[in-house]
Amino acid sequence: MSRPPVPFDVSEAARGGIPERILRGVRSSEEAYEILRRPVTRRSVLKGAGAAALAGPVLWTRPGRASEPPRGIHLAYGDDPGTSMSVSWFTGGPVAGAALEIGDTPAFGTTIPAASTTYSPPPSIPQPISRQHHATATGLEPGTRYHYRVRHDGAVSPAFTFETAPGAIVPFRFTSFGDHGTDPGTATSRVSWGTAFSPRAVRAVTALDPAFHVHNGDLSYSCGGPQLAWDVWFEQIQSRAAVMPWMVALGNHEMELGFGPRGYDPFRSRFRLPANGIDSGPLRTSTFYAFQYSNVLVMMLDGNEAASEYGYHFNRGYLAGAQDAWIEQTLQAARTSPTIDWVVVSFHNCMFCTDVVHGSDGGCRTRWQSLFDAYRVDVVLNGHNHCYERTHPIRGHGHTTLMPGEPVEPATMGVTYVCAGGGGQLAAPRSVSTYPASLLHNEAGEREIEHALWRASRIEGYTVAVVDVDPGAPGGTTTLTLTAREFMTDLMAPVDRVVLTRPAKAVAAVRGR
Ligand SMILES: [Fe+2]
Ligand SMILES: [Fe+2]
Repeated sequence: MSRPPVPFDVSEAARGGIPERILRGVRSSEEAYEILRRPVTRRSVLKGAGAAALAGPVLWTRPGRASEPPRGIHLAYGDDPGTSMSVSWFTGGPVAGAALEIGDTPAFGTTIPAASTTYSPPPSIPQPISRQHHATATGLEPGTRYHYRVRHDGAVSPAFTFETAPGAIVPFRFTSFGDHGTDPGTATSRVSWGTAFSPRAVRAVTALDPAFHVHNGDLSYSCGGPQLAWDVWFEQIQSRAAVMPWMVALGNHEMELGFGPRGYDPFRSRFRLPANGIDSGPLRTSTFYAFQYSNVLVMMLDGNEAASEYGYHFNRGYLAGAQDAWIEQTLQAARTSPTIDWVVVSFHNCMFCTDVVHGSDGGCRTRWQSLFDAYRVDVVLNGHNHCYERTHPIRGHGHTTLMPGEPVEPATMGVTYVCAGGGGQLAAPRSVSTYPASLLHNEAGEREIEHALWRASRIEGYTVAVVDVDPGAPGGTTTLTLTAREFMTDLMAPVDRVVLTRPAKAVAAVRGR
């Protein structure tokens, strides 16, 4: 019997600068970059930069002026979320005296000089690129509100506040989505690849008031083209990202061909992230890292390094096992830590999803599923498919089918995989499911059909995943409640909910001291 045809989506180019038809047969970033290095003609510049380049170079130009205010201000936890915070922002051009002013009163009190960075475009996509400024405050008090502003000679930002992670085991909330983009209705619409729901997603997060946001990758959709898209995105998220850490994972659209090794120069230059992964470079921005908040360890991985889906596989294996070794070491430490109950992992490519656009990635399964099983990972958050899906708990080739409302016991049942990819990016018309038949990109990158009876819930449309953690009481249970909320209406109605339970280990350990 012949296999049913699998629809192949071409609406989301993996490498924004180069059409898929040219990439056919290309097996690595280096080979693909060679395409970008070919002699440049006006025609190839336009083609290479994609449709967004048609906006014309005038949109790329943003000369730096001393009076230009700091823009796109955003936070990320430092190496220790309780005692450090990185503040980042950009200016159109170089400025002097970039610095963070910070203190536990509105008078600030401490000034920390910023490190300023930028990066170069490939010769085929010439354009000016903004300057990024980063300052990390260390030695802060856990669970404390700080006041800050950023400045350079001739300009200063408004004042903002943030709170460091608590030093105690406390109830808290975080939110998650991936696949964001920017609003094409803005003045800079020609570099925007998103929908009117992209800024609405930020407002949804604000309304939900989490402690931090986990972004599962595909951020600005600058896609190796005009880098102004990053500036627009940072301005779009500033209202929330300036007051709460916005913890990001790499998506396929952060592989920007020609922009440095692996296409990661823009990501590495624009974020200052915890440097406890092993791919930290001179910018101290790791492409994978972990942080603990209350009784939860959150691990942010580079899914591009494991994905086998054809056209999205160019960075596969470039760390030669180093990320896997770090994952195992980190999971091992987490499961022996007295203060960690929950382990949540975020990366971009779905391990289990029935959407026909990208489906499931067998490369990620081969690399990481046995590790997640062995160390009883609780929840995996992905994006890439522009929808929301949740699986029943999965272990190995089996899963435990639960009735709606029945709690998940991950320690015995397995991992709950969540695709939270409804962050505002276009849902392709073919972004549907053929359940129970499901698309799997196998280890070799070929498309296969599998039965996906592990699927528990699927929601079309724009959604944010909300995770509420209750540490419980000694002798009792801790709960992790995952709720998907649509943000297409002001109701932000819950459209899926599941409760996970574990023995309350962390709160007992801390109170027993
Ligand atoms: Fe996406
Ligand atoms: Fe993606």
